[in-house]
Amino acid sequence: MTIGGLDPYDRLARALGHIAEHHRDAGFVVISGDLTEYAEREAYARLRQALTMLPMPVRLMMGNHDDRDVFFDVFRDHPRDADGYVNHATDLREGRFIFCDTVETGRDEGHFGPGRLRWLTEQLAGCERAFLFFHHNPLHIGDPSADGYSLRDEDQGPLRDLLKANAQKVAYMFFGHVHAPLCGTMSGIAFSGVPSTMMQRIPNLTPAEHTAIGPLEPAYRVVLVRGEDVVIHQIPFAYEGELDWFANT
Ligand SMILES: [Fe+2]
Repeated sequence: MTIGGLDPYDRLARALGHIAEHHRDAGFVVISGDLTEYAEREAYARLRQALTMLPMPVRLMMGNHDDRDVFFDVFRDHPRDADGYVNHATDLREGRFIFCDTVETGRDEGHFGPGRLRWLTEQLAGCERAFLFFHHNPLHIGDPSADGYSLRDEDQGPLRDLLKANAQKVAYMFFGHVHAPLCGTMSGIAFSGVPSTMMQRIPNLTPAEHTAIGPLEPAYRVVLVRGEDVVIHQIPFAYEGELDWFANT
């Protein structure tokens, strides 16, 4: 299967191989959703097999192209919340890393209703420092062709209220879905949208009916939590062009 002439499995495998080679000391790897294109059982099985090349733990998230039932059929022991959403969290020395399931089955826009908001409220109440991960962008990004697929308008307000109440506690927020290296703040909290290992979005800040994506350089990101600081590196793992090497002395 190819998408836009590219093999998504090949790209994923190259990214994972690059991570395994260059970042073996990472605390964990997070894949922020759209684990598959069409949510076939075989696709999840291939993902599970590909992840065995990583020496560190992996945190998986649902995207609008995923299907929870098929996902759980392959990743049977994967953590979920009491309502069956793929909401989970990991406590490390650096803080609590909270992975939020923003998917509404059968819809491309995101949903984070009262039950899931309650879960996140409890997660935040139980820690001193948090890093939040979403699939959908939880705010409008000023690109009309993308904003129709963000977190639902009616869900953004309550989430924003929760973020404001925890602004001193939430160190950083990340989301996927936009296929673009975005950065900014939401309610005073810094966020980053990550690029894709496949196609990248071309920003269009004027009204448009269609979204433009293309085979621009793919990347993953490395997040360094250094004491109270957060540093993010973008890694163009598939680049095969010329490089100049300069001595540091
Ligand atoms: Fe998505």
